[in-house]
This record gives sequence, structure tokens and C-alpha cells, in this order.
Amino acid sequence: MATFKKFPEDFIFGGATAAYQVEGATREDGRGPCAWDDYMNRPGSRFTADPASDFYHKYKEDLQLSHDFGVNGIRISISWTRILPEGKGAINQAGIDYYNDLINECIKQGVEPFVTLHHFDTPLPFFNNGHWLNRDLIDYFVDYAKICFENFGDRVKKWATFNEPWSIPQNGYIAGNFPPHKQFDMPSAIQMMHIMMVAHAKAVNLYKSMNLPGQIGIVHTLEGKVAMTDKPEDIHARDLDDAMANRFMLDACFHGGYDDETMALINEILEKNDGKLVTYPEDFEEFKKAAEQIDFLGMNYYSSHFLQAHDGESMIYNNSTGEKGTSVFALKGVGARVCNPEVPTTDWDWPIYPVGMYNQLKRIARDYPNYKTIYISENGMGYKDDFIDGKIDDTPRIEYVTQHLEYILKAVAEGVNVKGYYIWSLMDVLSWSNGYNKRYGLFYVDYNDQKRYPKKSAYWYKLMTERKEIVP
Ligand code: BG6
Repeated sequence: MATFKKFPEDFIFGGATAAYQVEGATREDGRGPCAWDDYMNRPGSRFTADPASDFYHKYKEDLQLSHDFGVNGIRISISWTRILPEGKGAINQAGIDYYNDLINECIKQGVEPFVTLHHFDTPLPFFNNGHWLNRDLIDYFVDYAKICFENFGDRVKKWATFNEPWSIPQNGYIAGNFPPHKQFDMPSAIQMMHIMMVAHAKAVNLYKSMNLPGQIGIVHTLEGKVAMTDKPEDIHARDLDDAMANRFMLDACFHGGYDDETMALINEILEKNDGKLVTYPEDFEEFKKAAEQIDFLGMNYYSSHFLQAHDGESMIYNNSTGEKGTSVFALKGVGARVCNPEVPTTDWDWPIYPVGMYNQLKRIARDYPNYKTIYISENGMGYKDDFIDGKIDDTPRIEYVTQHLEYILKAVAEGVNVKGYYIWSLMDVLSWSNGYNKRYGLFYVDYNDQKRYPKKSAYWYKLMTERKEIVP
């Protein structure tokens, strides 16, 4: 591949976080419980979210560090239950104050905030009452979004409605490593995605009606899907998995409805799993309006899956410890994600396949040409960092990010409008189902005393932000 090194002048070099994974302080200043609090505190749980990276108290230090290392954008998310402790009803002023202070500090340090409204942390009362299968949540979400737009919309210029709406049902209802810990329920997963897409569309339409000075979009995780062989049945397994994980919601966001081909694949999965999708005509009115107005796609990309036909029952084993080679993932009516011996993996069995990111970028430009702008809103490598005398040599992470950046720049050179890259993660954070030994940060967090240490990758990232090119 020809190498592409130079970034556009206005490119954002960001770092990403999420409220639940960094803030800690889950019982402070009136915050109400979210779905994850109970789950993390269940008997047998290996870790909890307190104090995570203690960002609730240390955000000034983290933003200073970001500034010093050339990071000029940060993804943060708002914890719904800091603003509305019960998910609805009375506003918690301390929550508003906290995010006001945080956003002001971001701006003061020249680290532009990119704010996500929902990053997995659904308020507990809603979670207990059907979660995103309950359509009542649509309007509660829009009410919460309105409060955020009203309070922070004068200063926040980049809003995302949801982070990875696919991960919520995939992990909570198919893989069983997110609450509510269910498995193999593809019909519920598909139904939930539809309901979240309606909530997304309504929030976009509301934001656009408020004439605020920013942009609004959504963050999707795009998983590369590759057929393991040329056999038609493997190619079909690839298409089914791609329809469920990627295409279904991309269609809703950018086509304003589901394409016939997408629906044929989704219906095949539903039929083989005794399910049915319920939609209403007004959902599509909202979709259409939002698709015309959405400003950007936030694209998270970590990995690709290699697909093979699978005729049997569903089987999943989640590698949540970093013991390489232990994952199993096969879904009835979809296909099996298998190991491709030619592709390296992380210790958590995630194939390292940077060309998959390029393929997804090109796919967006080809199939969703009204996308306007793409931000790479997450990309990074989970790694068991060694901390030796205050130093962390995370060369494999630098190599991983370099390979992905080269493919981003190749796509940019070919006309794809990518305006920023937010490394996952800014500092080490709590990994939802893996805990604290799967680290991603530019800044190492010593969880004994919450001290931060820049890793080798942080120095490398800084150099890159100064030169505006990929440095070896
Ligand atoms: C994305 C999420 O799915 O991937 C992040 O948006 C998450 O919140 C990240 O932490 C990495 O996943 P994991 O499971 O390795 O922590």
C-alpha cells in the first residue's frame, strides 16, 4: 500500500472516554443508579465502577495532561442519572453543575468536547422496566436530551445521541456479557435497535429545531465482516451478520428507513429465531427527517470478523480475561465468527485487521453518500501494559494505531471526509466486561493511587499532533 502520512490541517487528534468507565463517584452528588450499578455489584462480580479512573474529581488534571500532549478533542458522555436521578422528573442541579464545569474546563484547555448522551448507562428504573424494548423510553430519552441541549448546547458543538447502539443488545441479549446477561435473543436485539433508532431520530430532529450552534450525529461501531471462503453459504453468513450489526442501523440513520435487501436479511434472521419486528409508520417519518439533517457519523472501529456458515444452535464463550484463543461465537440463523489463522489477534481474540477500517470508510462513502462528515470516534488496542519504574512501553499499541491511521489517510486521499480521530482511550478506563487489566489509554492509571503516567504512545501521539503526520 502506498503510505499516506499527512493529516488535513484542521484534523482533530482526540481521546475518548465514557462517563461510567471513567468517572467513579457513582453515589456522589445525587446521582441515581444506572443499569450497570447493580450488575457490577452483583455477587461474583470481579470489579466495580468505583472509583474507575476517578475522572469525576480528576478531570482538571486529565484535561491539563491532554492539553500538554497535544490532544485537542475529548469524547465525554453525560451520565443520564446525574442529570435526572430517576431517569425522568426532577433535575439534579449538582449534575448540571458538574457537566458545566467539565465542559468549561475542556474549552479552557483547548480540548474540544464531543458529548455523547447515552453510552450504555440506561437509568436503572427504565432498565428494570423493559430497557430499550419499552417504547416509553423514546420520549424519556428525548426529554433528557432536551435538558442537555438547553444547558450545554451553547458550548458543546458536537453531540452524539448514542454510543454503539449495536453493542447494547449484542452484549446484553446475544453474547450475555452486559446486563441483563441474556443470550441468543436476536429478535429482542433487533427490536431494541429499532426503538433506539427512533429515539435517536427524534433527538436529532429536536436538536435541529432548537437552532443551536453545533452538529449532531451518532456513534456506531462498524464491525468489518469478511467471508472465510468464497462458498456462497459463507458469503451469505457474512451478509447476515453485516445486516444485523451494521447495515440495519446505518440504513435507519442515513437512508431514513430500511432498504429492501437489508430487511430481507433481517427477516431471515428473525424467521429462523421465531421473531418479528414491530414498527409504526410514524417511526419512518422521524427517520426520514433525521436522515436529511444528521451532521456526522461517529465511527468506532476495532476489529473485523471472519464468517462461516453455521447450521447448528447458538454457542458463545466470551474471552473476558485476555486468555488468547478462548472465544467462541456462533449464532443460529446467522453464522459463526471463526479464527483466521493469517490474521493476528489481541489477547482478547479481537482480530487486528486495519484494512477493515478502510473498507468500512469506503462503504459509507459508497452506500451512504449523504453522510457529510465522519469522525473516527473510537479506535485503539486493549493491551496488558507493563508498568516498569514509572515507564510504559506500549509499542504494540503504537503499531496498531499507526496501521489504522494509514488506512484512514488512504481513505481521506480517496475522498472520504474524515475530520478527526479519537483514540480509545484517553487514559486507562474500566472495561465493561473485562475490568481493569485490559488497558487502552494514552495515560496509564495506577489504580492504587490514581496517579497518571504518560505511556510511550502518549509521547508518540504528541509528536504526531505537532507534525500533523504519522511519525514512525
Ligand atoms: C467500545 C465502547 O465498544 O469499545 C467502549 O464504546 C469500550 O465503551 C470499547 O470500552 C472497548 O471495549 P472493551 O470491551 O475492550 O472495553
